[in-house]
Amino acid sequence: MDLKAVQENWNRFGKTDPFWAVLAWPGMEEGRWEVDAFFATGREEIAEVMALIEQLQLQPAPIKALDFGCGVGRLTQALADYFQEVHGVDISESMLALARELNQHADRCHYHLNPRDDLSLFPDNEFDFVYSTITLQHMPPRYARSYLRELMRVCKPGGVLIFQIPSRPKHPVQRALRPLKPTRLWRWYQKLRYGDQPVMNMYGIPKENVMHLIEQQGCHLVHVEPDQRADQAWESYRYVVEKPLTSPKPR
Ligand SMILES: C[S@@+](CC[C@H](N)C(=O)[O-])C[C@H]1O[C@@H](n2cnc3c(N)ncnc32)[C@H](O)[C@@H]1O
Repeated sequence: MDLKAVQENWNRFGKTDPFWAVLAWPGMEEGRWEVDAFFATGREEIAEVMALIEQLQLQPAPIKALDFGCGVGRLTQALADYFQEVHGVDISESMLALARELNQHADRCHYHLNPRDDLSLFPDNEFDFVYSTITLQHMPPRYARSYLRELMRVCKPGGVLIFQIPSRPKHPVQRALRPLKPTRLWRWYQKLRYGDQPVMNMYGIPKENVMHLIEQQGCHLVHVEPDQRADQAWESYRYVVEKPLTSPKPR
């Protein structure tokens, strides 16, 4: 799946059932999410993230935050309770249209469409806090790796990056078969089965490779913990990364 196909898929989700595509909780499909309840989940999640930051004795300046894969702004708006300015980036125009419509902080939450596999829309060292959850899991790993490098690039020295990404399928058979899944054939099967309906593809990067990537970028892995937000069939982690004040050049 290339980035164009990823974008088309999420544009369809944004037009059909955007809240459920973001949080696929059982019983909430077909427009059953109430707007207030949906955004309350974002506030709960960010409050929990801020408590973790405090527990780890990290102190990102409360100035500028980035929410990568912001969807309809569930977490972008919640981040505005802690940061002066928040930027949400997404590949889907339809998701962003709804994010803008529902934005309660028009002067402080800004949304950006980014169809590229980099974040060249932002300069180096721009954000005090960078967050991404249930996003990197929905794109082929080559793109997730590129965005991870970019998320570390745009994070300020002394800033904090927190992200979630699955590592591998939990079931040994699925794990063994995964590298063999012929992508073209799989896409053809999905097209046959689902037609033009959007599909929620899952991918991961092994934990040791993510840790290596962080090190390569000259950043410091402060904490890693299992995360339950991915599909239950996957082992997934949340990584807390600090960009040192004097960062060695990425290798
Ligand atoms: C499951 S939703 C999560 C949204 C948000 N992180 C949240 O938790 O409320 C995944 C989002 O990632 C976006 N996305 C997928 N691939 C992307 C990419 N390459 N760049 C930016 N956003 C992407 C989708 O459009 C979608 O809005």
